[in-house]
Amino acid sequence: MRVGFGSPAERRDILEWLEHGLRPGRAGRLAREYPILFRRNPSVFPITLFDGAEPAAFAMLWAVHVRVGVHRLRVGLVSLVYTDPALRGRGYGRRVVEAAMAQAEGLQLGLVVLWSELESFYSPLGFVRAGREDLLVLDIDSIDSAIREVGLDSPAATFTIGSLEDPDWSAIERIRSQRECQIEMNPDEFRSLRSIPDMHVRVARDATGVRGFAIRGRGDDFREVIHEWGGSPAATLECCRSLAEALGPEREILLLGPPGRSAVPWALRRNGARLIRKPLGWARLASLEALSEDLAAFLPGSAGIRLFRMDPSPAGEIRVTSDRGTARVSSRTLLHLLLGSDEPTDGMNASELRSLLAPALAPSALEPLPLPFFIWGLESI
Ligand SMILES: CC(C)(COP(=O)(O)OP(=O)(O)OC[C@H]1O[C@@H](n2cnc3c(N)ncnc32)[C@H](O)[C@@H]1OP(=O)(O)O)[C@@H](O)C(=O)NCCC(=O)NCCS
Repeated sequence: MRVGFGSPAERRDILEWLEHGLRPGRAGRLAREYPILFRRNPSVFPITLFDGAEPAAFAMLWAVHVRVGVHRLRVGLVSLVYTDPALRGRGYGRRVVEAAMAQAEGLQLGLVVLWSELESFYSPLGFVRAGREDLLVLDIDSIDSAIREVGLDSPAATFTIGSLEDPDWSAIERIRSQRECQIEMNPDEFRSLRSIPDMHVRVARDATGVRGFAIRGRGDDFREVIHEWGGSPAATLECCRSLAEALGPEREILLLGPPGRSAVPWALRRNGARLIRKPLGWARLASLEALSEDLAAFLPGSAGIRLFRMDPSPAGEIRVTSDRGTARVSSRTLLHLLLGSDEPTDGMNASELRSLLAPALAPSALEPLPLPFFIWGLESI
């Protein structure tokens, strides 16, 4: 097992092998789809399991700070989990994911999040579906009536809708930075995302500059999903309209966003867009020490909050203590409480969960939970 690449030649060979498996016949594609992961980056940890001299299994860990309001959570994102087809079923996939978890703990990341359809692979590894995202099914009519509705607030607004031009990318970065939750990226990292293939961007401009944007597609993902958007509601909706129109009336287009009632999804829902609620992804607790420290900032009323594992299994029970008392919860319950969930949690609903933790957490500090945790399309890997 190796964390990092041993040499530039090894890096090239592993990337070729990975691309052959995950993007056959499309040399260079993975690196273009995930520019942050395949550039020299101290926050990125490629993990390769070798069978003799040949790569057998792989996982990528990206260590990030998720800014939620004014505080931060240290999180690991895992992706590109892959075992050579000839070597599957020998536990290699499990071993690279466990190696990524061990790396995340060593790096003091409080939890790890990933995206996958493979429940029977990730669930036995202790990952649980957690967090929330809202998908809205859009059609031109619902977008048009939403535009008319939000236009009542600013009737004079007229935008020019266009494709992306180079200076617009920093305007998009500025608009994104006003979000309640986002992964922190340095300007170079964000700039590198500009060249991801199969990304369709619309920008709404007026005399004052860029007022809104919307992005559909990202490499092989999000082909029919607007996964990044922002700016003034009217400008954003005009961009969504343009993307929907370009896709054609026979194809469904979706809008992805954090749960809640922000202006754009809410206007669309009021005007007929259907809502599909989904878990954000798979999550597993990593360094409880790091998570305790990060949570202390979010929950100032619960001084000295500490999380401890009651048993070594990844999905085991957690003891939550603070100067107010102690509670015991399953990892799943804790993740659901922190990140949100629409799934029934150990047969208890959210308010029961909160009261279960009440002895450990100051009642006033329960309000910020679940955290408004969300990962946007350009940030997911
Ligand atoms: C998913 C993948 C990485 C599993 O690799 P692997 O080395 O065969 O996995 P393991 O041998 O460690 O299997 C661990 C467990 O997961 C289960 N599992 C493995 N592959 C699975 C799959 N494709 N679907 C559902 N369950 C699977 C097995 O039942 C196994 O449990 P067991 O040991 O009790 O039988 C591999 O099939 C792969 O590369 N698939 C293509 C790429 C992909 O889909 N990656 C996931 C993206 S997040």
